[in-house]
Amino acid sequence: MESVIRFIRELYGEPESFIPLHAPVFTGREKEYLADCIDSTFVSSVGEYVTRFEDMTREFTGAARAVAVVNGTCGLTAALKLVGVNQGDLVLTQGLTFVATANAVTAAGAVPVFLDSDSDTLGMSPDALRAWLERHGNGSRRIAACVPVHILGHACRIREICEICEEYSIPVVEDAAEGLGSSLDGRHLGTFGKLGVLSYNGNKTITTGGGGMILARDEELGGLAKHMTATAKVPHRWEFRHDAAAWNYRMPNLNAALGCAQMEKLDEILADKRAVAAAYRDFFAGRDDMAYVDAPEGCLSNYWLNTVLFKDKEAREEFLKLSNDQGVMTRPLWTLMAELPMYACHENDGLANARRLADRAVNLPSGPRIKA
Ligand SMILES: Cc1ncc(COP(=O)(O)O)c(C=O)c1O
Repeated sequence: MESVIRFIRELYGEPESFIPLHAPVFTGREKEYLADCIDSTFVSSVGEYVTRFEDMTREFTGAARAVAVVNGTCGLTAALKLVGVNQGDLVLTQGLTFVATANAVTAAGAVPVFLDSDSDTLGMSPDALRAWLERHGNGSRRIAACVPVHILGHACRIREICEICEEYSIPVVEDAAEGLGSSLDGRHLGTFGKLGVLSYNGNKTITTGGGGMILARDEELGGLAKHMTATAKVPHRWEFRHDAAAWNYRMPNLNAALGCAQMEKLDEILADKRAVAAAYRDFFAGRDDMAYVDAPEGCLSNYWLNTVLFKDKEAREEFLKLSNDQGVMTRPLWTLMAELPMYACHENDGLANARRLADRAVNLPSGPRIKA
């Protein structure tokens, strides 16, 4: 275990100081764009940086439309409502995820059901999805959406999930909060489902301070996403007319200014993160006490966070204590949704793989090593 900590210190060129899990890097035009934004006085919900950031993201991801929002959680809530989720509906998602996925379902008025993950991708298992639908597909509650999550930047089996959902006419909203820069067979994550959502929280591959992006495959739905996340205002030079009870989830121009500068550095950041991942992969290749979780076949991952699996929970806990005591920040995966007090009463399918993963996984420092 000590050798892992030594290796991480070498990888980051930090013999003694604290190594965070994933710190943002601001080495581009961030300050210039922020100053420009302040000088323009357009710091709030209207401004050129928002449009520029959306256009850059649309081009980068290949989505038909990209809509900048205040954060990934609100983006997911909006996306669920946009695909038709109503009060009391069921939404199928996975037990192994960050709590925001389940919270977004709840905020949309729906009831999350927690399904198991695949052991290799960590994302929703298509087999678990099919099994649940075969058992419950004709229940009394409407199944209004499915939200698979691309965990840690690795693609889940999104094609199979979309195919199954299509059979049952269930719209798919991809939680791609951790997936900016990741693709499956050349297609960016978040563009397989009807809608997908990215996050730019401070710990993500790039950040806008706080922020999110709704990706739409379809121009029309993307247009509706823009309209509904911006108070559903009917364009007019001076009148305040709104045509739906909508939301104010717009990303402020200040955050988008930061986003534009970060996007200009995205390729460089991704290249360094992939180099970090390659170094971890090589280092763990020969070990039998822990296994590196690599991207599944066909997935070009952003390697948001690099993960290793220990043999058992005891060894994992020992490593968490040792590394954090020594100033190397490591973290377990999240407590399963089914084990959180507010979601313990919700249906789950036993989550056998998710439980094994949650007990044994550790996330290692994975930020880009680019220095200002
Ligand atoms: C899987 C997942 N879903 C949703 C979110 C929510 O994003 P945000 O923090 O931007 O609200 C995050 C990240 O924070 C996440 O990791």
